[in-house]
Amino acid sequence: MFHAAMVPRVRKRSRPAEASVPRHDEVKFEDVRLYLVERKMGSSRRSFLTQLARSKGFIVDNVLSDMVTHVVSEDCQASSLWTWLKDCALKNLSNIQVLDISWFTESMREGRPVAVETRHLIQDTLPTEGPPPTPVAAVSQYACQRRTTIENNNKIFTDAFEVLAESYEFSELEGPCLAFRRAASVLKSLPMAVPCLAATQGLPCLGEHTKAVMEEILRYGRAFEVEKTLSDERYQTLKLFTSVFGVGPKTAEKWYRRGLRSFSDILAEPSIQLNQMQQSGFLHYEDISRAVSKAEARALGNIIDEAVHAITPDGILALTGGFRRGKEFGHDVDFIVTTPELGMETSLIPIIINRLTRQGILLYCDYQASTFDKSKLPCHRFEAMDHFAKCFLILRLEGSQVEGGLNSAEGDSRDWRAVRVDLVSPPMDRYAFALLGWTGSRQFERDLRRFARMERGMLLDNHALYDKTKKEFLAATTERDIFAHLGLEYIEPWQRNA
Ligand code: CTP
Ligand code: MN
Ligand code: MN
Repeated sequence: MFHAAMVPRVRKRSRPAEASVPRHDEVKFEDVRLYLVERKMGSSRRSFLTQLARSKGFIVDNVLSDMVTHVVSEDCQASSLWTWLKDCALKNLSNIQVLDISWFTESMREGRPVAVETRHLIQDTLPTEGPPPTPVAAVSQYACQRRTTIENNNKIFTDAFEVLAESYEFSELEGPCLAFRRAASVLKSLPMAVPCLAATQGLPCLGEHTKAVMEEILRYGRAFEVEKTLSDERYQTLKLFTSVFGVGPKTAEKWYRRGLRSFSDILAEPSIQLNQMQQSGFLHYEDISRAVSKAEARALGNIIDEAVHAITPDGILALTGGFRRGKEFGHDVDFIVTTPELGMETSLIPIIINRLTRQGILLYCDYQASTFDKSKLPCHRFEAMDHFAKCFLILRLEGSQVEGGLNSAEGDSRDWRAVRVDLVSPPMDRYAFALLGWTGSRQFERDLRRFARMERGMLLDNHALYDKTKKEFLAATTERDIFAHLGLEYIEPWQRNA
């Protein structure tokens, strides 16, 4: 009935969605992809609004596809619109915001996509029976019982929470810091953007404070407390100082108290003795504060792989950290290197370091020999370093080794860049624990340990899993074994971006 009339003039699959990306206007909002429904709007008004949005840096597709994030309609007849949408055979309609033209008008006025509020939504009216489709009861308070991909539908909230968490961390207020980190983590796991405060009902880890921040963001697109923090001199300075490799919050605070505010202040202060790590941090600041790409991570993997296999043919190399979780970019690249012969693994890293030195690509190395002692298991203080042999490196990466080239700054004409690399070398019988512990995310690890302790009476760290009731260690050769011991469903690495 409505279908024929509602099908837009440009039909599905008649040409690829990419073809409709604006060619001349600069895209400012990569994460937003609009589709304007022609019905009621009419084709000439639709093309006028399309031009307008593109000139303001929005992506507007002519074809409705799974890549579209915002559908805008002038037709407030929700039922017919939704009937048509459901007929479009999209993979996941719940990823798309279906919005009234008022959202579009406001966004054009502001020159940016305004936060979606309830009044903007054209809600599906059809399924009247049953409760509204809220994710509620299903969401666990533990990140290790949630599946969190790199796709974050609530970045507008989680970015704000992370600013506040970091600010509390700088003030050593662990409670509120953790509260905001947990809240951010819960929102990251949701399959859609939170459209209004009512939709957070029943979600764990969202308290008064976090909800107040969310409400402001929903209403005004920003939160006062976050804006205030971002413009705070202390926050800005500590953020700047801790962005240097080798500078933690304690050192940053000390420098701030001395009245130092910039890198040149620090470097000009004669009474400050930078350690080796900090000196390299400043020396390579531009490079290592730049994100490492997947292609660069792969190139570094090849270099380390060659080194490991030159030492022993049955050497084992595994990518871990953020890149194992499927991230496109990282602040470093993390690897596990080991060998099947127990005890032999401790000599691997020193030999690798030797080789990198001879190749002339070792720019900095902080090597920490193994202090692993089975009799002292488990060491369950979170964030406490594990006891395996490890090193924190800065390597020189040649552009010629990277498929598609380096992720260098514009105007940088060098054919190399410096990158941070971490290597850790657990004995083979600890491999699964080390892999699980170094894959992260940090929030996922925190909650795994908290879950083990609170729900199972077990202690988990990067070395082992201990059952306090049975007073015994639980062996594991794979990550799946550890999840099974904990009575947890297996969570894939790419679902651990909590
Ligand atoms: N880790 C650890 N012991 C250390 C350093 C790191 O157990 N001494 C773990 C962290 O808990 C984290 C993982 O190793 O889960 C990776 O750490 P890091 O490289 O800092 O973070 P990523 O998640 O890889 O993020 P990024 O992409 O920014 O590097
Ligand atoms: Mn990393
Ligand atoms: Mn790391």
